[in-house]
Order: sequence, then C-alpha cells, then structure tokens
Amino acid sequence: MNTPAPDTPTAPRHILGIEGLSPPEITALLDAADGFVELVRSRQKKAESLQGRTLINLFFEDSTRTRTSFELAGKRLGADVINMSVATSSIHKGETLIDTAMTLNAMHPDVLVVRHPHSGAVELLAQKVACAVINGGDGNHEHPTQALLDALTIRRRKGTIGGLVVTICGDIAHSRVARSNIHLLTTMGARVRLVGPPTLIPPMIERMGIEIFHDMKECLQDTDIVMMLRLQFERMHGTFVPSLKEHFHFYGLDEDKLAAAKPDALIMHPGPINRGVEIDTSVADDIDRSVITEQVEMGVAVRMACLEAVTGTETSKSKLKAKPKENRRKKARS
Ligand code: NCD
Repeated sequence: MNTPAPDTPTAPRHILGIEGLSPPEITALLDAADGFVELVRSRQKKAESLQGRTLINLFFEDSTRTRTSFELAGKRLGADVINMSVATSSIHKGETLIDTAMTLNAMHPDVLVVRHPHSGAVELLAQKVACAVINGGDGNHEHPTQALLDALTIRRRKGTIGGLVVTICGDIAHSRVARSNIHLLTTMGARVRLVGPPTLIPPMIERMGIEIFHDMKECLQDTDIVMMLRLQFERMHGTFVPSLKEHFHFYGLDEDKLAAAKPDALIMHPGPINRGVEIDTSVADDIDRSVITEQVEMGVAVRMACLEAVTGTETSKSKLKAKPKENRRKKARS
C-alpha cells in the first residue's frame, strides 16, 4: 500500500499509515470494509479468504478495541490468529524489537499487526520481516485502521466525507488518531478543525491543511462531526493541563458546547473514553448522535478489509451478498 514493499512478485504490502494513500486507495479499502458489515452482523460470520494464513498480533502497548478486533477479523476470515502478550514474551528478558520480529518472522506468519509506543518502530520492523505488516498504532505518529474505521462510520452515516466540517478536540499533540484522521479527512476533501489548549496543539500542525481554534464553541459552529480525544498521559512528559476539572470546563464536550455544532452533528471518540474529563456522560450515551459503539463495530469490518488488502485475497461478492438474504428468509419463517 503506502510503503516501500520489496519488489518481488510475491511481496507483501503493508499498511503503515494513511499519509501517502490516494483517494482511490482509501475508497477501495472503505468499499471493501462496507461489504463486510452485513457479514459481521449476520449469524454465520465466517468467510474463508485467509484460510491457511497466520496472523500474529504483537502489541507492545495496552489495547482493548484494536487487538480484539484484529483477532476477530482474522478469525472471521479463517486465519490462525496468535496474540503475543509482551508481558509474557522474551522482550522482558532483554530481547530487542528487531530480534523479536526476526524470531516471529522465522515462523512464517503472513501478517504481523504491531502496536508500539515509539513512532516509526512499526515501519522499522516492516523493513526486516518477510510478511505483511499493519500498523496498530505507533507512538503519536499514525493509527491507520482507526482513521479508516472512523471514515467508514462517517461515510455510512453522512453518505460522504468530502465537504464535511470535522472538529477534532483535545489532546492532539499526543494523538496518532488525530494525525491519521487529518491525513485521511483532508485527502478525502473534508474541512478539518482542531481545538484544544495551546499546550496540546503541536507547533506547525496547520501545515497539514487544517484550521486551529482554542475556543470550543467558536470551533464547533457549522461542525458536522465532533471527534473527541482522551488526554494521553502515557505519552506526556510534563504537565500539559492545569487540572482535569479545568480541561473539562474548557474542552470537555457537554450538551451546552455541543449546541454550537450542527443539530445533526455526530459525536465520535476512538475510545477508551474518560467520562467527565473530555466527554460528559449525557453526550457519550446520546443514542441519536453518539456513534462511539458503531465505530467499534466498523473496526472489525475495516480490519477484515485491511487483512485481505495486505494478503492480496478477496471474499467473493456473492458470498457477501448471500448473508443478509439468508437471514431475511430465516426471519420470515420464524
Ligand atoms: C487509541 C489509541 O490507542 O491510539 N485508541 C484506540 O486504538 N481505540 C486512542 C487512545 O488510546 O486514546
């Protein structure tokens, strides 16, 4: 995909970031993921495109959604899936990232999904192994599958991405989600605004073709999508906000601030959410406007599409279309 893959005919493709992907490449991944949504909603969720293939999840950082959804995505496509827990691996015995990668590589996996606290670590690893690599989040750099699942959620709800006004709010400085979303949304023609305290907006980020605000109500005017971000303390070195209470007062999404956005604005959050810090419970649980759990649902479909893309496999259209009809028939009989 967007990375220098070795030029042998069987070379794996990697998904290391959104930066550099073209609108047709993004659209193709979203279309493929869309095709999986009905399948993962049906009773029989399995396809066979990855039968005989091996997926290893290698997570050097905590994760609930990303790791589980990659595991489910792999299993639903018929792959053998192994989750490497860093806590019980030889990394704690002093093994380097590259040595761990080479050890796993010797077992001939087809795909490695890697999450690492350091920006660039996943790309470095991808240069050393023979299999395809998907970035499950590297430091504050990129989290491509999160941006793709956010885009799929938006596209299914709003019918398009181009022309929408998207506000990303909170800890932009430490967020790989913000960075991947800025790349994707601007590439697809959305207008992106960032809002947060000056300490959490990285210098020069306006070069990415976005607008910067420090007043949340002003920023939310005409906004179609409000994307909230957690304060990512694990990547902060020093103090960036005076207090959690003050952060919520100025940048926490509550009904009062949300009233400044369009009446049909969607509320998004990559999770995990911190209620009362960046988002109020009444807004997070608003069944008409919050799509936070829908984002999780789209995560499985997007990761299925990404796994097929990097392995050069495809689930036939007839298989994808057959599922909803079968279900409708069963429902009609009962
Ligand atoms: C994000 C991550 O890990 O980058 N979460 C996720 O993948 N769903 C955002 C976060 O941790 O705040």
